[in-house]
Amino acid sequence: MKIVLLSDTHLDATDGRVAGLDPRRRLHTALLDIVGHNGDADLCIICGDLTEDGSRASYEQLAGMLRRFPIPVRLLLGNHDERAEFLAVFPETETDENGFVQSVLDTPRGRLIFLDSLETGRAGGRLCGHRLGWLQARLEEVPGEPVHVFLHHPPFAIGVSTLDSCRLSPADADALKVLLKAHGNVRGLFAGHVHRAVFAEWGGLAAAALPSTNHQTALELGGARAGLGTDRPSYGIALLGADETVLHIKSFVPPS
Ligand SMILES: [Fe+2]
Repeated sequence: MKIVLLSDTHLDATDGRVAGLDPRRRLHTALLDIVGHNGDADLCIICGDLTEDGSRASYEQLAGMLRRFPIPVRLLLGNHDERAEFLAVFPETETDENGFVQSVLDTPRGRLIFLDSLETGRAGGRLCGHRLGWLQARLEEVPGEPVHVFLHHPPFAIGVSTLDSCRLSPADADALKVLLKAHGNVRGLFAGHVHRAVFAEWGGLAAAALPSTNHQTALELGGARAGLGTDRPSYGIALLGADETVLHIKSFVPPS
């Protein structure tokens, strides 16, 4: 199974430019690159921060861009998103019993679980008891089945202080780890938020964070404040096999 992973598209229909770049043109270029090179993908996931401003106009811009995109798309929410505005433009989106944008997709390669770590008003992420309870129930429905998990905020620190200060709440991350390890067959966790490609082992689980299609974070390990990086915009391609999960990072040439 082939899954294209985009993240942090940061569309802003009201202002147009984000971090001095044009997120609409960059996402358009990314979608063209995907159709040209990975058009056989089974699924595309955008891992949150769909918009910069959470406005309805920005979600409408995204909906317009995806209208003719030939690959099925799942949309996750990040800290820049607004749940109500998003759902107003994408009313067909599945939500859980508490209104969080959480869902599952059962595939020949096991269950994919999509989590909602948006906590309105916070840059950092939360998975409250309601969200974790929903996750536990979804894991218990498929004992022994392979599971892959997707959410916006990484539950692990990456060594860049600017980003580690607004990751998933450490207490929630610990609770998440307990649930995932108890399942016993979680094959990978994919996050966005950090605007960099990061690969991790987290409590015995394979994990990764994805670059942005718009602006990248500079690699400033330690206490220095990380500014904007010069890496090319990129997206991920996950290959889910019978006994392995592989992640490629595909950069694309940004529009000048
Ligand atoms: Fe972001």
